[in-house]
Amino acid sequence: MVRAGVEAGYECAPNIALVKYWGVRDEALGLPFNGSLSVTLDRLRTRTWVRFDPALPSDQFVLNGAPQSGNPLRSVSEFLDNVRAIARVETPAFVRSENNFQTASGLASSASGFAALAGAASRAAGLELPPPALSRLARLGSGSACRSLFGGFVEWRAGTRADGRDCFARPLFPPSHWPSLVDLVAIIADAPTKPVRSAVAMQRTVVTSPEYARRLREVPRRIRAMKRAIAGRDAPTLFALTIAECDSFRLVCETTDPPLDYLVPASRAVLAEIRAVNADAGSAIAGYTHDAGAHVHVFTTRRHANAVRRRIRAVAGVEKVLALSPGSGGRPLGGRSR
Ligand code: ADP
Ligand code: DP6
Repeated sequence: MVRAGVEAGYECAPNIALVKYWGVRDEALGLPFNGSLSVTLDRLRTRTWVRFDPALPSDQFVLNGAPQSGNPLRSVSEFLDNVRAIARVETPAFVRSENNFQTASGLASSASGFAALAGAASRAAGLELPPPALSRLARLGSGSACRSLFGGFVEWRAGTRADGRDCFARPLFPPSHWPSLVDLVAIIADAPTKPVRSAVAMQRTVVTSPEYARRLREVPRRIRAMKRAIAGRDAPTLFALTIAECDSFRLVCETTDPPLDYLVPASRAVLAEIRAVNADAGSAIAGYTHDAGAHVHVFTTRRHANAVRRRIRAVAGVEKVLALSPGSGGRPLGGRSR
């Protein structure tokens, strides 16, 4: 039963993929070709509140205090259609959301945004969805959102079913499993906004990159090795695998026709600096990765964090470095009743 007039809230954080989701076998359901692995981050977060209201003419979406129209409103509204279909209602909704970090800049606001929306909208609709169902719902808004519902280290299994019932994320280890792991995010000045949605860009890779088939063959092995490294808190192995995976992701992007290039010279300079850091140390004390954007995430441990941070900070074009840790999963928030 939709609880008309009752506002329900939910909070989620962005995640960064150590093994990337890139390519879907079913576009409508967002079913990926390969599984992926991520770390949910602390400090950054989205808070979203939803109220279904029969008096509204249509859905409304206010983000960080600004009423939205065009694509952001359309994506929220299409997402709410999934919730309405499950709840068997047609009531419009008022959605307000706050990101405490930059939206649409490559820091995964779409992941935390649609995870928080899934949590808030399902609660406002009176649905009590178990975690796998909530994750499947979030996946329909943005693939990576299905991982942001959970804290710490998270695996999204691709599944094999055509209806996607076995395609959802689950937590592997809580944030407390490895609290000394640090994600230094190099915020690149003047990072360009994404020219094409990832969902569209990745399908170009599937169709045109001659490297994509090889990547798909490699990924399951890499996921198994990474899970072992995380379980054993084996930092050098995890960092070496993180770099290998990121390079594989970048290779399929660069060999897409036309090529997908998300990095700017400053991002590439950070990657080179981390290779130099590891060469100087004689082992992998840091591992880099990036998503479909110019910012670079550098994983290291507390022991090396200050030194690695200084090296990143010195790279021309790096505006600032955020020091993040594995963070907690989604949680309900109080709402306002009218
Ligand atoms: P990012 O790297 O931040 O995920 P994208 O361009 O992939 O960048 O996604 C940004 C889009 O995600 C926004 O334009 C908006 O449509 C959606 N989005 C971001 N934050 C929220 C939110 N809090 N609630 C709903 N949708 C959001
Ligand atoms: C490179 O989940 O953002 O970050 O469905 O277009 O929102 P949309 O795609 P999205 O793509 C994520 C791609 C990635 C890798 C990852 O997070 O696994």
